[in-house]
Amino acid sequence: MTTFEPGILWGAATSSYQIEGAVAEDGRGPSIWDTFAATPGAVDNGDTGAVAADHYHRYREDVALMADLGLEAYRFSIAWPRVQPAGSGPINQRGLDFYRRLADALLEHGIQPWPTLYHWDLPQPLEDAGGWPARDTAARFAEYAAAVHEALADRVSRWTTLNEPWCSAFLGYASGRHAPGRREPVAALRAAHHLLLGHGLAAQAMRETPVGITLNLTQVSPHTESLADRDAVRRIDGMQNRFFLDPLLHAAYPEDVRADLAGVSALEHVRDGDLKTIAAPLDFLGVNYYSPMVVTSESEPGGPKASPYVGSPHVAMRDKGRPRTTMGWEIDEHGLLELLLRLRRDYPAQSLYVTENGAAFDEPVHDAGRISYLEGHLRACAEAIHRGVPLHGYFVWSLLDNFEWAFGYAQRFGIVHVDYATQRRTLKDSARWYADMIARGGL
Ligand code: NOJ
Repeated sequence: MTTFEPGILWGAATSSYQIEGAVAEDGRGPSIWDTFAATPGAVDNGDTGAVAADHYHRYREDVALMADLGLEAYRFSIAWPRVQPAGSGPINQRGLDFYRRLADALLEHGIQPWPTLYHWDLPQPLEDAGGWPARDTAARFAEYAAAVHEALADRVSRWTTLNEPWCSAFLGYASGRHAPGRREPVAALRAAHHLLLGHGLAAQAMRETPVGITLNLTQVSPHTESLADRDAVRRIDGMQNRFFLDPLLHAAYPEDVRADLAGVSALEHVRDGDLKTIAAPLDFLGVNYYSPMVVTSESEPGGPKASPYVGSPHVAMRDKGRPRTTMGWEIDEHGLLELLLRLRRDYPAQSLYVTENGAAFDEPVHDAGRISYLEGHLRACAEAIHRGVPLHGYFVWSLLDNFEWAFGYAQRFGIVHVDYATQRRTLKDSARWYADMIARGGL
């Protein structure tokens, strides 16, 4: 048996817009995802988060499920438009109350609340005022963070500012696959910087509380050993990983990425002092990992579509022919091990958590595919810890089937099945398997 040291924290993760529903209740304002999902063609099947898994009304039942599974922590996100409907100005106490009740229910069951302050649901009025490309949004985020911190500080000890700012910036403002659906490369670079700045300003505003941040990091390898493909690796690793890790942990944007971006922007929006703010001490770095990337310098026949890799639109994705999940993502736990070892090497001493890992499969209850995915990736975590990586916890994505952004409800990541017609929850085999693993402390 592979055993984990006691003290590794075991949890599951969700996010507000993906599960809560109740988008017009108790004073919640509209978010960019309400607007985007209502745009014809933006989300598969015209799905929206209006009802989702109805967690806003069923959170007690959901917390009881978590307790039955033996979860030690629950990673969820706070919807900014519930707490501050206009994105600035008055705080909506009824919105805060929901998260107070949720945190209380978790604590009653001995489950640590792990809130994330921003998991992509920007209040629409802030997008109307320019969105993340506008510097002011970073200051608004810090104000919102301070209000939530004050309301929940007695219940929460681990805070995460942002989830996957790469997605917010480059899927939201470059490729347009995510809300707000803009295709403006320069705006995407401004958004990335203002998200990072918002993270740093929020840490200050939360009375210097050390905060964590979650990034979608991955391991990148070349399609062939050609020089051009190896340069493609450098470029994509630069945009996907180092463009966020280096400002946060080394107080600098990587020089080679700045050079790649020279034809798009000189990053003149970066002001003196910003990088010092961004590089505030991190309590932990959250790693979301699903699949490795294989890249080539040759773009797809038919020419590049709007690429999220704004400095390198000619780079294309390939694969290694491994089995895939229903997202089309290749399954390769070795990529997680390589990534964790690389983080220890290049950013030593930074405490790490896997804040998301999981798989979409269309197996309603007997989800052998998901169990095999989780088992492989947990073995990779055990091996990483064995080799000295300071990894302190793991959160499966996701507790519940939910709204998978531009893919709508067709993609199911939950270890708990949701029947959207009745909102009935049914444990999948993977939920029972995960509960056993937690109880045994090993695989
Ligand atoms: C990362 C995101 O944080 C989450 O919202 C999403 O559902 C999963 N990946 C799966 O794509």
